[in-house]
Amino acid sequence: MRTIAFYSMKGGVGKTAAAVNIAYLASQAGYSTLLWDLDPQGASSWYLAGANRVKGHKLSDLLKGKTPIAEFIHESGYPNLDFIPSHTSFRNLDLKLDQDDSTNLIKEWLAPLSEETSLVVLDCPPSLSRLSEQVLKAADAVFVPVIPTWLSLNSWEQLQAFAKEKKLKPSRLHPFYSMADRRKNLHRDLIDGQDEYLPKGLKTIIPNASVVEKMGENGTPVELIAPASVAADAYRRLWREIQHLL
Ligand SMILES: Nc1ncnc2c1ncn2[C@@H]1O[C@H](COP(=O)(O)OP(=O)(O)O)[C@@H](O)[C@H]1O
Ligand SMILES: [Mg+2]
Repeated sequence: MRTIAFYSMKGGVGKTAAAVNIAYLASQAGYSTLLWDLDPQGASSWYLAGANRVKGHKLSDLLKGKTPIAEFIHESGYPNLDFIPSHTSFRNLDLKLDQDDSTNLIKEWLAPLSEETSLVVLDCPPSLSRLSEQVLKAADAVFVPVIPTWLSLNSWEQLQAFAKEKKLKPSRLHPFYSMADRRKNLHRDLIDGQDEYLPKGLKTIIPNASVVEKMGENGTPVELIAPASVAADAYRRLWREIQHLL
């Protein structure tokens, strides 16, 4: 079982869009995939639940060990793709994790799933917190969407500094340009200067595309809405890059 995370301390950068599309492509490639929506806002659960609105379990059930993690898992309606929906109580996850410094709870919770799951995709909330720290430690690779703007690049710098401070392996972090709009001068400059501005970045650039926004209408991955679109192609290339790193 491999675990990957989509993480950034900035919101609205394309974490959830990437998590859902990559989880779908992984499941199509034959990986038995589990997407865990760690964001109390519940966007990826909302995408995957489709017409069947699901009610997540309370965090306390998991913490107390009362309910095994397997009971938190829902089917997505796509073969090979299950998910753990978010719950508003997940907003307290940081608090709970703070109280227990010694263990990586995320890792512990996932361990019993290792036989039937080949890939776990963590969709993270935008915060630089104890939860982020545990996610960064639990994941084999962390993918960080960066909008080609100075602010987004700055937050990537901050994340690297945070990782260094927490003695996390920097090689585990993989930024990639997200929501890129070549019509904007700044985006174009920062993309063309990727070697300088985002030297460790993945090659794939996720474009700003209305088809990604359309996912909101019926929760469908871009691959199913418009397989021939530039965005669908970009997510396929992103998946191939990720697959090589697993
Ligand atoms: N590549 C993209 N092009 C256009 N809109 C996007 C793209 N990626 C995400 N969005 C839209 O931007 C908003 C935030 O995206 P989301 O993936 O939820 O970000 P995050 O999880 O980082 O907060 C959503 O409304 C989503 O539909
Ligand atoms: Mg999100």
